[in-house]
Amino acid sequence: MTDTENLVLWSFPTRVVFGGGAARQCGVEAVRLAGHRALLVADKGIEAAGLLHPIRSALDAAGIAHESVLDISSNPLESEVLGAARVYDTFKADIVIGVGGGSVLDVAKLVRLAVTHPAPLARYDDAIGGGEKIVGTLPPMIAIPTTAGTGSEVGRSGVVTIQATNRKTVIFSPLLIPDVAILDPGMTQTMPPSMSAATGMDALTHCVEAYCSSGDHPMADAIALGGIQLCHRSLRAAVEDGADLGARGDMLKAAMMGAVAFQKGLGACHSLAHPLSAELGMHHGLANAICLPAVLDFNRSVIPDRIAEIARHLGVRSDEANTLSFECAGAVRALRRVIGLPSDLRSQGIAESDLPRLAALAFADPCHNLNPRSCSQDDLLALYKACFDDA
Ligand SMILES: [Fe+2]
Repeated sequence: MTDTENLVLWSFPTRVVFGGGAARQCGVEAVRLAGHRALLVADKGIEAAGLLHPIRSALDAAGIAHESVLDISSNPLESEVLGAARVYDTFKADIVIGVGGGSVLDVAKLVRLAVTHPAPLARYDDAIGGGEKIVGTLPPMIAIPTTAGTGSEVGRSGVVTIQATNRKTVIFSPLLIPDVAILDPGMTQTMPPSMSAATGMDALTHCVEAYCSSGDHPMADAIALGGIQLCHRSLRAAVEDGADLGARGDMLKAAMMGAVAFQKGLGACHSLAHPLSAELGMHHGLANAICLPAVLDFNRSVIPDRIAEIARHLGVRSDEANTLSFECAGAVRALRRVIGLPSDLRSQGIAESDLPRLAALAFADPCHNLNPRSCSQDDLLALYKACFDDA
């Protein structure tokens, strides 16, 4: 066979350890990865919540020496990655353990790049094809998420603000994927309701956009639908009762599955969401929550069967595919409402006069390139307007 015109790549390399108390497996997993000296990357909030106690105890029990770096901000800087890399070198660490939300896990992933590749991090910017310069073997890593949204624990990118440009920069390479993700529902139970809601909607949006994105990826499609079903079953419960470990576990699974699925691609919702966070500081999950219904309605004409399938997995009941696809955006709005998230951009202090500038930035964002319906800048502006006063 010589025709490789339709060649596609499907892969899922991460070992995932799931369950109550799973965080205490980190010592065993570190030994399995031949680690002896661990750099723990977390932040002060994680430390204050007591979430590092079981990790440190497990490492002590496994005979793994450890040193911690806790100076990580919610929008991490290159200097924080390089500072952590210096600690890694000084401590003579041989494994990285990230404990935190998406930002912390991103820094932990990038420390492994910084200790094995020449500076500056700007060399590895995905926008200039920098991923090609990431080669060889990075130190092993264990990721232990304390939020359920980004799925960074199974993702292949890290986002950091580069000093030279002062811009949030995506560094992308399959080599950045952690070796092990440990999903312990107890590690997410201190998340407050608003954060549980917003991060959960990010997970749902990853699943929805991956399932809708163009491309042939049956594994990603099946995983995405499974993630949507978990969000339908447990997002509300996780928000209403943070101690509901069954719901917390479902949302950890959904977040991980969303990030596995979006190796297929994302879509227009993420292109709309990125400028809202970068320019106006809106939480990424909230930005997705506000924009997703309008994007579902926009895509309905080109992929009605897929939108109907999403509606089915969100609990909409009808024998009519048309009815299901029509009801899908409403199902997302209803979920958004019961978990207490706002429904429009106006209430977030955004001026209508900002929308054209934001639409230009959204058009420059690459995520919409895989949206099933192609988007012009005017389409993206119309979508922002549809979200401006959304009920
Ligand atoms: Fe996202």
